[in-house]
Amino acid sequence: MTERRTSLIVLAAGMGSRMASDLPKVLHPVGGLPLLAHALESGKALSPEVVVVVTGHGAAEVAAAAQAHCPGAEIVHQAEQRGTAHAVAQAKDALAGFEGDAIVLYGDTPFISPDTLCAMADARAAGADLVNLGFIAADPGRYGRLIVVDGRLDRIVEFKDATEDERRTTLCNSGVVMAPASLLFDLISQVSDDNAAGEFYLTDIVGLANARGLHCAAVTCDEAETLGINTRAELARAEAVFQTRRRSEMMAAGVTLIAPETVFFAADTVIGRDTVIEPNVIFGPGVWIDGQVRIRAFSHLEGARVGRGASVGPYARLRPGAELAEQSHIGNFVEVKNAQIGQGAKANHLTYIGDATVGPGSNIGAGTITCNYDGVMKHRTTIGARAFVGSNTLLVAPVSVGDDALTAAGSVIVTDVPNGALAVARAKQAIKPGLAIRLRDRLRALKSAQKGN
Ligand code: UD1
Ligand code: MG
Repeated sequence: MTERRTSLIVLAAGMGSRMASDLPKVLHPVGGLPLLAHALESGKALSPEVVVVVTGHGAAEVAAAAQAHCPGAEIVHQAEQRGTAHAVAQAKDALAGFEGDAIVLYGDTPFISPDTLCAMADARAAGADLVNLGFIAADPGRYGRLIVVDGRLDRIVEFKDATEDERRTTLCNSGVVMAPASLLFDLISQVSDDNAAGEFYLTDIVGLANARGLHCAAVTCDEAETLGINTRAELARAEAVFQTRRRSEMMAAGVTLIAPETVFFAADTVIGRDTVIEPNVIFGPGVWIDGQVRIRAFSHLEGARVGRGASVGPYARLRPGAELAEQSHIGNFVEVKNAQIGQGAKANHLTYIGDATVGPGSNIGAGTITCNYDGVMKHRTTIGARAFVGSNTLLVAPVSVGDDALTAAGSVIVTDVPNGALAVARAKQAIKPGLAIRLRDRLRALKSAQKGN
């Protein structure tokens, strides 16, 4: 790979009207990550020194997302969308004096691979002044066409402006282009809007470069990489492409997926070797799972960490801040939020653990609930090591249960339970000998008297 300095320009000004959405198109997620972040992520393959994001529609939201994913990204604004060359031109000041290459990516095109970008950098290193990314389209439709003459990229013609002959070529333009930044802006300054769409086409820089005797090269990639998202249907297709790829990567890395097509990952999901994921599991963003874990069917996880040998589900929900230590068990219909579950601790059935710490080796009985919210504020529950929380215990936070302590089933715990203590907080049981039979006899008599009336 080349050692040349690079900068990245990501176009993200478009409205995306066909999404029919209040959310700017580039912020729609694939694998839980905005499309724009995918584009920024692929650009990282070239270790850009400067990243410029061109915003337009929904600029404030897009800028915030860009900076969240890529701190230090420069944001420039394209007030009016007058074409792709006009969009790139907005980055000129941000890159003034930058001596190195610029690569143009698109906020709505999430799958350009690191290998492809490296191949473009290699073509630059091999002597091309300008490198344009193309692909052989199964259905070339309305894509711009790359016209290659004697092995060199001669020009790009937009579909609207192409002749019948030019339209027959299947080598299409992805829009991704790489050139020295100064050359890029110089060429763009010569672009006019004298074309069928009345727009400043970035694609015109290829013809302009050739007219100067410069060398333009076309690098090709798989069509799947250039998938751009314009509609919800394309968003769904992109999600499918992403999931298929992540499932393969997970399996290749030693994760068992019993029914891969039913498991959905986020872009940042990390899972260790020999972990088994049963069918119908969904990973939201921010999940880290160690090796030898079992995630049972129909579980939903986001923002959670799961330690080695732990078991989760079936039908479990891990919400942000859930941290499960090694060998812990979170069973069916258990929800854990912002809580640390200690090594070997168990909450196997029908429980809510929120804003809590559960010490190692503790057992949380079925139906236990940490009452963490008083309608205004959140409060913590602290459970020590080896504690036994009886079934259907309500822990009214802030409250603690000490090491080796025990709460009786059905208790409502409102004050701290010391280490080793037993807390019973429920009405005393009374026994009335024979009363059940007498009561039933009386009710039956009443019923037959009513029928007689
Ligand atoms: C562009 C290419 C075409 C290529 C196709 C690939 C040009 C002139 N044409 O066409 O050769 O086959 O992409 O999908 O470049 N954008 C801005 N500001 C603007 C205009 C566009 O930010 O003023 C952004 C859009 O939001 C979009 C991208 O640039 O993300 C491409 O623009 P679009 O209008 O979709 O170009 P196409 O007509 O598809
Ligand atoms: Mg387009």
